[in-house]
Amino acid sequence: MGRRFFIETFGCQMNELDSERIAGQLRYGGLQPACSAAEADLIILNTCSIRDKAVQKVYSRLGELRSRKAREPGLMLGVVGCMAQLEGDRILKKAPFVDLIAGPQKACAIEGLLAQRLSSGRPAADLRMEEDTEPAESSEILRESRWHAGVTISEGCDRRCSFCVIPYTRGRQRDRSSARIVREIEGLVAQGCLEVTLLGQTVTSYRDPSEKHPRFARLLRRLAKIDGLERIRFTAPHPNDFDDDLLVAMAELPQVCDHIHLPVQSGSTTILRAMRRGYSREHYLDVVRKIKSAPRLMAISTDIIVGFPGETDKDFEDTLSLLDTVQYDGVFSFKYSPRPSTPAFGRGDEEVPEEKKRERLRILLERQRLIQYNKNAGYLGRNLQVLVDGKARTGFSLAGRASNNRIVNFDGPEELVGTIVPVEITGFGPNSLKGAWNRQRLETTS
Ligand code: 5AD
Repeated sequence: MGRRFFIETFGCQMNELDSERIAGQLRYGGLQPACSAAEADLIILNTCSIRDKAVQKVYSRLGELRSRKAREPGLMLGVVGCMAQLEGDRILKKAPFVDLIAGPQKACAIEGLLAQRLSSGRPAADLRMEEDTEPAESSEILRESRWHAGVTISEGCDRRCSFCVIPYTRGRQRDRSSARIVREIEGLVAQGCLEVTLLGQTVTSYRDPSEKHPRFARLLRRLAKIDGLERIRFTAPHPNDFDDDLLVAMAELPQVCDHIHLPVQSGSTTILRAMRRGYSREHYLDVVRKIKSAPRLMAISTDIIVGFPGETDKDFEDTLSLLDTVQYDGVFSFKYSPRPSTPAFGRGDEEVPEEKKRERLRILLERQRLIQYNKNAGYLGRNLQVLVDGKARTGFSLAGRASNNRIVNFDGPEELVGTIVPVEITGFGPNSLKGAWNRQRLETTS
């Protein structure tokens, strides 16, 4: 057929992995990846619906593609992923020129939908949701990186946080068997992969469907036995099932990185209750205290939503004081965005005005910036092992991540890309570290 495809990914690491799976499937079916949308005759937008902004981005991208589609009727356009699942019909109304629509569970179905579209002459859609089966296995995944890979351990989510749309886009939690996960990672390592990030909505509620005592900590212990796998990350745990067993496993397994992303969402127990998070501020702080008293120092990062319906100035103060208490190494913060289908959607009367949300976000970012600046100062003079990802965005030639997830920029030859090297920290900002590659050290220790 000679088609060339290009996938534009919006959203999280799980979406990035889904795009790699779609790319793998398409290439397996004989299509070729294109270097840009301009060179492609199949363009797939793999979408996100976590906040309204993500959804609007896709509509504006579709607006841009409309005229090209009018000029080139043979161009195929697909909208897949979470937003497609949530509002497939609306997409077809607003952008009737779209050819394919599929939800996030249908990464493997795109090729079939394309064939269906070509034979029927009408848009092809698959928005059915799987409930009880294990997530579909991909026969081929076209990886962006050789040395780092996202690996699904579970799909979907059984929690019902009142702000979150994920259960309605990705469905119920379905875990992959550990045997499959191990096999996939062994295969990746054989091809040179050094680091994996285990992905799931709440990885700590992972239960191996094929074993009797099958928890997340045990999976980590099993993966740590894989020869050649240098680093294991995971995202994201839930504070309620971050148990001692997991903490002990993390402390004992050197491959597990020194970083825990532990979403809190708010520092106010009242708001946490309204969010249906299932824990109080005090309980969350207990978990943080346990992490901090572990034998290994772990960086902690989090997600925070400001302006949830009903959030008062006092509630927001509680979030700021939580930042002061925990001293996070990194914070992703968002303005609350009402999402259709979610329990909090109908609470328009308690909505925090946009202006106030913006102001709270600004204050929070400023407060956290100072915390990170001070924390990063503590790394001056220390040596960190950095997995080099590629070119730095700043004035340095290379950038990578330390085990504690900090970005480290430094100068060095290109052949270091895709390897783990020691870097001495010589400078810092609130969001990254600067360093010097320690060639000497490498030569004397090797
Ligand atoms: N509005 C704003 N932020 C949200 N998140 C999830 N749902 C919403 C929403 N409706 C944030 C949470 C979550 C992160 C992935 O996105 O902080 O942890």
